[in-house]
Amino acid sequence: MERLQKVLAQAGAASRRKCEELIRNGRVRVDGEVCTVLGTKVDPRVQRIEVDGRPIVVEPKVCLMLHKPTSYVTTVADPQGRRTVMEFVKEVTQRVYPVGRLDYATSGLLLFTNDGELTHRLLHPSREIDKVYRATVIGMPDEETLARLAAGVDLEDGRTSPAHVQVLRLDVKESVLELTIHEGRHHQVRRMLETVGHPVKRLKRVKFGPLELGDMRPGEWRWLTEAEWMQIYGAVQLTPPPYPRDLAANSSGLRTPQRRRPARVWQADGVQSRDDNRHRQSQPRSRQRSGDDYPWRVRVR
Ligand code: URA
Repeated sequence: MERLQKVLAQAGAASRRKCEELIRNGRVRVDGEVCTVLGTKVDPRVQRIEVDGRPIVVEPKVCLMLHKPTSYVTTVADPQGRRTVMEFVKEVTQRVYPVGRLDYATSGLLLFTNDGELTHRLLHPSREIDKVYRATVIGMPDEETLARLAAGVDLEDGRTSPAHVQVLRLDVKESVLELTIHEGRHHQVRRMLETVGHPVKRLKRVKFGPLELGDMRPGEWRWLTEAEWMQIYGAVQLTPPPYPRDLAANSSGLRTPQRRRPARVWQADGVQSRDDNRHRQSQPRSRQRSGDDYPWRVRVR
């Protein structure tokens, strides 16, 4: 038995708070009776639950991972009409949505699920779920810089928590670092590296909690394996629902990412460079800079 508002939210009726309103406003019926009591315990497998006369559909829980390519927005629908990560999971019939987000310019492991409680726990700061980012940066960070990154960097919204920093390649021109962080602040890795003087050229998330991107190609998605399913629920101390074995045996997908847009260059003060002005002429206004684009840096090819 589950609380009515939780069942409604998990069935995708609305957010948890909105579902509470639906109940209070007498728009929800359980077995034909209007129910206005928040917290009423129900069993959606045996009871008929309706919102405004329409029965809710309780789907089995599913979870998949996508290798998000760059140049896609992590959202279910973009009012500006940009390409979204949902394009890659079009054939998935369950109502999955992304768990957290990756920037437009960031690629890598993005989890999707229809399990609201799993999402909530994975994103809650108190759980401190580790995320590993592989960053190609301009220049060669020295020991002191690496220690700064590891200790925590002062950003405008406060000092970051200590990070684990691993050096994969060091070169005068560009270097590759792997940063493990558990916070999920906006543009965090880019801002950390910018602050210590090594702006990011490419950023890819290679791990999310116990899950690893491995050799998946950009645009490819697949269901979690049973072992991964147990691990991800275990990571947030949630009893795993039944593993959707049939689904997992039958599908996965690869959609080729669309060609990238022309390079854009943004400067620290938001002033556009010549390159960007050229770009501006060829792009409608809605396609230009948005809150999701990291505003400072160079697109280097
Ligand atoms: N940090 C960033 O800067 N960007 C991401 O997409 C994720 C983490």
